[in-house]
Amino acid sequence: MDNVTIVTHPLVQHKLTLMRDAERSTKGFRQLLNEIGMLLCYEVTRDLPVEMVEIRTPLQAMMAPRISGKKLVFAPILRAGVGFLDGMLDLVPSARVAHIGLYRDPETLKAVEYYFKAPVDIDDRLTIVMDPMLATANSAIAAIDLLKKRGAREVRFVCLLAAPEGVAKLRGAHPDVSIWTAAVDERLNDHGYIVPGLGDAGDRMFGTK
Ligand code: PRP
Ligand code: URA
Repeated sequence: MDNVTIVTHPLVQHKLTLMRDAERSTKGFRQLLNEIGMLLCYEVTRDLPVEMVEIRTPLQAMMAPRISGKKLVFAPILRAGVGFLDGMLDLVPSARVAHIGLYRDPETLKAVEYYFKAPVDIDDRLTIVMDPMLATANSAIAAIDLLKKRGAREVRFVCLLAAPEGVAKLRGAHPDVSIWTAAVDERLNDHGYIVPGLGDAGDRMFGTK
């Protein structure tokens, strides 16, 4: 699939299997999401540009690589996207953070916006949108619409699980946005849930129903 990277690393796949298990505790689910966030962050930042700078080791001067360009923006979609954030910030502590509050109307499955706060100088920063679930893609598309309206020009999307329908719709709406995911599942069910999936990510992460 163009534009889609499936992260097949055994640690990611193992942790995803643990998360799918309906018996996994809220605490365990949240911890695993955090750990996978870190691993996915490693993959999505794999091609960041570097520049050579002169440093001095205790023994001598040398030229060494350093990440160049402006600090990244991490953009979790509330609520469940927050589950990725700490793991990603552990790897990239200097990243800026945009918060995007969206929920899915259970009848229409349309995304309803309730909060948006992003850095003003987002236009020349790589922006990484994160949400564990890409189902209909309505939430992802709405989030990226908001970020682009704010000025974001280079956007990537990271999720844990995607439905084929969601991947196709996101690629149609934002063909410039590449996707990283741990798996693309079979399909959406009649209620817009990913199957086999893992259920409602926000509810499982926060222990709500
Ligand atoms: C879930 C999930 C995504 C969205 C995905 O959030 O975290 O944001 O659904 O579905 P979509 O691709 O069909 O838009 P939800 O709307 O349940 O909100 P919550 O995180 O606040 O529980
Ligand atoms: N949102 C979720 O949390 N899970 C799904 O399967 C679909 C949307």
